Amino acid sequence: MKYFSLLTMLMLGQQVFASKAPVPVYKDKKALVESRVEDLLKRMTLDEKILQLNQQTVGDNNNPNNNGYQKPTFPAGIGSLIYFSSDPAFRNTVQKRAMEETRLGIPILFGYDVIHGFRTVYPISLAQGCSFNPELVREACTVAAKETKLSGIDWTFSPMIDVARDPRWGRVSEGYGEDPYTNGVFGVASVKGYQGKNLSDQYSIAACLKHYIGYSMSEGGRDYHYSEVSPQTLWDTFMVPYEAGVKAGAATLMSGFNDISGVPASANPYTLTEVLKNRWKHDGFVVSDWGSVEQLMAQGVAKDRKEAGLKAFMSGVEMDMVDDIYGQNLKQLIAEKKVPVAKINDAVRRILRVKFRLGLFDNPYTTIVDQRYLQPESKAVAEKLATESMVLLKNKDHALPLTGNVKQIALIGPLAKDQEDMLGNWAAHGDAKDAETVLDGFEKEFAGKAKINYAKGSEIDGTDESNFADAVAAAQKSDVIVVCLGEKKGWSGENTSRSNISLPAIQEKLVAELKKTGKPIIVVLANGRPLELVRLEPMANAIVEMWQPGVVGGSALASIISGRVNPSGKLDITFPLTTGQIPTYYDMRQSARPNSGKYQDISTEPLYWFGHGLSYTDFAYGAINLSAPKIHKNQKLVATVEVANTGGVAGKETALWYISSHASSISRPMKELKHFEKKEIAAGAKYVYKFEIDPMRDLSFPDADGKRHLESGDFVIMAGNQKIKFELLD
Ligand code: BGC
Repeated sequence: MKYFSLLTMLMLGQQVFASKAPVPVYKDKKALVESRVEDLLKRMTLDEKILQLNQQTVGDNNNPNNNGYQKPTFPAGIGSLIYFSSDPAFRNTVQKRAMEETRLGIPILFGYDVIHGFRTVYPISLAQGCSFNPELVREACTVAAKETKLSGIDWTFSPMIDVARDPRWGRVSEGYGEDPYTNGVFGVASVKGYQGKNLSDQYSIAACLKHYIGYSMSEGGRDYHYSEVSPQTLWDTFMVPYEAGVKAGAATLMSGFNDISGVPASANPYTLTEVLKNRWKHDGFVVSDWGSVEQLMAQGVAKDRKEAGLKAFMSGVEMDMVDDIYGQNLKQLIAEKKVPVAKINDAVRRILRVKFRLGLFDNPYTTIVDQRYLQPESKAVAEKLATESMVLLKNKDHALPLTGNVKQIALIGPLAKDQEDMLGNWAAHGDAKDAETVLDGFEKEFAGKAKINYAKGSEIDGTDESNFADAVAAAQKSDVIVVCLGEKKGWSGENTSRSNISLPAIQEKLVAELKKTGKPIIVVLANGRPLELVRLEPMANAIVEMWQPGVVGGSALASIISGRVNPSGKLDITFPLTTGQIPTYYDMRQSARPNSGKYQDISTEPLYWFGHGLSYTDFAYGAINLSAPKIHKNQKLVATVEVANTGGVAGKETALWYISSHASSISRPMKELKHFEKKEIAAGAKYVYKFEIDPMRDLSFPDADGKRHLESGDFVIMAGNQKIKFELLD
């Protein structure tokens, strides 16, 4: 009896004690994030703090560029994991260890590369930019975020906003093209799509702006190589989208592999600390790129792993992706007084802040649902984006759309019945089996209207011409030839540089054979970079750039070919005439002798400039109107332009507004895109596009240290084929 009452008393006592024990502030859902961060930080040992600064991997690595770094095990209290699985239950098991088997129960942050969709793969980013429809991209990223979150992942290494001017560089496919402003607008749209209104919302994931910064300047387009970026170009071109993305609240950034004019991007105190943290006040964290801390040795700025860790950490890289240098060296570096504890605290604080903002402490586990992928509404967004991303490059004598009198269509080419390559590179957990082929799309679209005669014709690469005859036969019995050409998905993306951006000769030969039939030829391109089309273009009556369109690309393309949808994409990157023209981009600076210094062997003009894209209707731009011919620096100027749809069908037109100034204290690009708006205009209708010019935002320029200068003088504003001068007064 005594025994029982003693036990009862003890239990009661424990209960009384337990109910009185205060909940630590960091576990209190109602406390402010900053108070929770500080409370937790105070409780952490140095070892626990250092663990937060490390990222390892779990699951089967599906990236061939990144093998050989993984460790078989990881500590339960690791800061972050790259999660190669898509199984939410497995994540929950791993998370449970962190929550229940570590002293403080700090949740792990699970990251992964979700670049253009998780399972509902939508077009590659380079294509998305051509839609000039940021709202649609935001919606697509929202779809991706939901599928990602439901698969156990809290953080995507996206968007990539590296302004890219060299199509030999394979990663040109991962960003939004050659223009700084466009990369900024779409980077912001992605951040908003992924992160939602609030990072702690049920289906929000954290975004990561990458690869900070200048990575796309790798010399000769050779990936991972040295990048020569002058301070002026850094600010004019590369900082623009990053500043926009940081302002939009991107939770994290990734430091690049590249060496920026002698100071590698992953050991660069100027970009990582002075600009990002001190000036832009970014309070999230920076993760290195895969192994980019260790690679400081290869780049010749660190003699060993320890020095590499010291340089990266002190420059402002808070999390070490996979190479375990921070894990192995930071404690020693602190003991040697090379790394101050305050700097460790600052780094941990930044990582914890993101975890708290994501709500991971309060909801560490993933909810398991039955249907998370390829939902009809998700596919609808993917299809709409694919449709708006496609660009009608050429349409001689209205070869397109294929209307009623076309009864037989020869659908030919190595990409016509292809699923794998429709997805493009970095297709996350995309499955080729989900992807519609072009043939699927055509059969659906033209059912009961035209017969589709399919023949492969050739492989994407190689020399085998044995299937040419079948293709020619299919062409001969058809009214028109649609030939689908392009690249394998693995030909663009990381580590996929090309010295020549032509298509393989076999594809050009196939078209030459088909041309002999005398039938009209519609070339459809599926590729991840601008191509050299100098030999193909003259053989084609029409060319549609379909890019790598994702799971519903077949339907999207077919709807354009049939004319059910009017194409509305415009190029976000210039197509040079030949590879030798690289670099060619629209915002170059003026030559000293604009009419001279041309190539002797070819035209200096690219084949298709940034902004090029045709429609099945015609848009006529009226004169640009200004609210005043002159304004002072503290005033706003409103420019408007009326655009009439003078053709027979409705169409979407994007007005691209450019500014140029011809006499500044430093030379400026010939023109710079400052605003765009896409709008559907009914046949015969008009729409007035408007651009409200804020002088400091739109007319100023940065110096080599990012300070903005607004100088009075003459400016020209352009839209469509119209331009007008105005004056900025002091
Ligand atoms: C790429 C990054 C990617 C990372 C993680 C690296 O090789 O450069 O873009 O986010 O791997 O997969």
